[in-house]
Amino acid sequence: MIYKDGFYYPSDDFKNNANIKDESIYKKAQKDPIKFWEDVAGELFWYKKWSKGFERVAPSLKWFVNGKINITSCIFENNIKGWENIKNKVALIWEPENQQEETKYLTYSELYSKVNKFANALKNIGVKKGDVVAIYMPMIPEIIISMLACARIGAVHSVVFSAFSPKALNIRLQDTKAKVLITSDGYYRRGKVINLKQQADEGLEGTEVEKVIIAKRTGNEISVISNRDLFFDDILEKADEFTEAEVMDSEDLQFILYTSGSTGKPKGCEHVCGGYTVYAYWTGKAVLDLKESDILWCTSDPGWITGHTYVVYSPLLNGATTLMFEGAPDYPTPDRWAQIIEKHKVTIFYTAPTAIRMFMKEIDEKIDEYKFETLRLLGSVGEPINEEAWIWFFEKVGKKRCPVVDTWWQTELGGIAISSLPGIGPFKPTMAGRPLPGVKVKILDDEGNELKVGEEGNLVIEEPFVPSLLRNVHNNTEKYIKTYWSQYGEKIYFSGDGAYMMQDGMVRIIGRVDDVIKVAGHRFTTGEFEDAITKHKDIVECAVVGVPDEIKGFVPVVFVVLNDGAVVERETLENDIKNLLREAIGPIALLKKVYIVEDLPKTRSGKIMRRVLRNLFTGEDLGDLSTLANPEVVEKIKEVIKNQ
Ligand code: WT7
Repeated sequence: MIYKDGFYYPSDDFKNNANIKDESIYKKAQKDPIKFWEDVAGELFWYKKWSKGFERVAPSLKWFVNGKINITSCIFENNIKGWENIKNKVALIWEPENQQEETKYLTYSELYSKVNKFANALKNIGVKKGDVVAIYMPMIPEIIISMLACARIGAVHSVVFSAFSPKALNIRLQDTKAKVLITSDGYYRRGKVINLKQQADEGLEGTEVEKVIIAKRTGNEISVISNRDLFFDDILEKADEFTEAEVMDSEDLQFILYTSGSTGKPKGCEHVCGGYTVYAYWTGKAVLDLKESDILWCTSDPGWITGHTYVVYSPLLNGATTLMFEGAPDYPTPDRWAQIIEKHKVTIFYTAPTAIRMFMKEIDEKIDEYKFETLRLLGSVGEPINEEAWIWFFEKVGKKRCPVVDTWWQTELGGIAISSLPGIGPFKPTMAGRPLPGVKVKILDDEGNELKVGEEGNLVIEEPFVPSLLRNVHNNTEKYIKTYWSQYGEKIYFSGDGAYMMQDGMVRIIGRVDDVIKVAGHRFTTGEFEDAITKHKDIVECAVVGVPDEIKGFVPVVFVVLNDGAVVERETLENDIKNLLREAIGPIALLKKVYIVEDLPKTRSGKIMRRVLRNLFTGEDLGDLSTLANPEVVEKIKEVIKNQ
């Protein structure tokens, strides 16, 4: 890498080999973004070409109107790299948590065969185009096979992260009205067996699920309900070898993926076939510089959007090899992730700042023993990366040789929207980089005025947005409009992030301006925590805020006001609250601390001022307290924080 005036640029060697190396792409895309995306779409296989590139049908939008496509045909028989070229190469490397077990390798044709058979198995139990299939599975090859099999027959998958609680699964199953759930007997987490089937069974209560398919992984004892429960391998074995890919309209649903809502109810982001396929393909090609020879390790669980796009769809659309690791990157030893990179000759490593900060802390000295000779590109995603972590990643993992792409995007966007391109640059620690060619990002104040260079404001995307922008919130168009299209009207997509832009178009993401907290890269809202916590019989009201944390970025703390006369130990209360959160969301909803206070700071209209509470931790100015109805509580809360 070349360093000049505070910026890094790719070496000539990297640049010459990069998929995108010509700066002129930005100008070209800027001039006519719709044409730009049509050209990209034209690289892929379509059953029928679209008649119009982009159409705004407020509050939604359409891309590649009337085009016909199937993402699995673009991955397999019509892959851009040529089926003959890729069919015998490895599509998926699966590394088990237990090092005594064997790695699994699936070539493109082996994966193709399993996907076809499982697609037929789904058909055999009555799954049709447009039906929703819920997937609640750990990081095993069957999760990828399941997703692709759904896509093959035009069923809509809705993946629910396996660490979500039965209650969280239940809410999603109710909302999608899924008739089929695919799960596993269990999974390994740090050597321990978690009985996932039991959790699935609890989550099924009161839903319309008629069939449950179980992949065997851990062999733990599970309860099986005859006529309802089937085994993955059994039905796959019995199914026919080939199934024709369903010809999908560009705007047919590809999948629904939930993200935290501002209350207890999550938002089901709807992604569609045409735009998602094009965007997953292109962002992998341009930002991750994916080539046939690459082995990409994206550490996300497929249960998140990062896993959907960069573990499953994008690498396969680009004819590359994707690596999925079953376990936690620091188990059983802190350098397990480093061993995996070397063992499997990973070329692109895409992970989250929270993981990087953990690696940094756990194996700082030992890291020099690893040469990481095969690595050529590093990526970061999910939250702002601090300078120290960026430099460590760049120097100790990338050995100052690999570009580091800091990629900004969201579940709603389906793929990366801001990041410098690795073959062009520039890169600067803490700067996500430039918006991708064809993506019109602006920074606006609350009234919608465009801000000047360096001024902090709200990050928005202007028309024509990106081809894979969500089309709706499932069953809740009102929420869709309110969340994304109300702040600035229907022509401007509001991201919920604060940011500023530099002269050269580089964007610095500051963090959320709404009620979202990113904890170790996972997205929660204060509302969903608060909804769960106020269920406690002794709690009248509460306020959750995210406070900065060295490793996790932010961690939630809660301020609770107790019922008059409630007598409860703080420790007992803390345990109760943690249990409530585990029940409502899952073990990932980690709470840092509980503070019992007399009252919460409120405006005269009764709105809780979370900003004041947050600033008590960050040391930022508390702002004008005279707008509070009860400014005197602030001092009292300070005392409580000090004494605990
Ligand atoms: C939110 C979206 C993007 C897929 C994984 C997370 C934050 C994401 C970055 C980045 C700073 C980032 C934003 C965004 N975020 N990437 N590179 N720099 N912040 O998807 O769970 O939907 O969360 O994650 O706040 O809005 P998500």
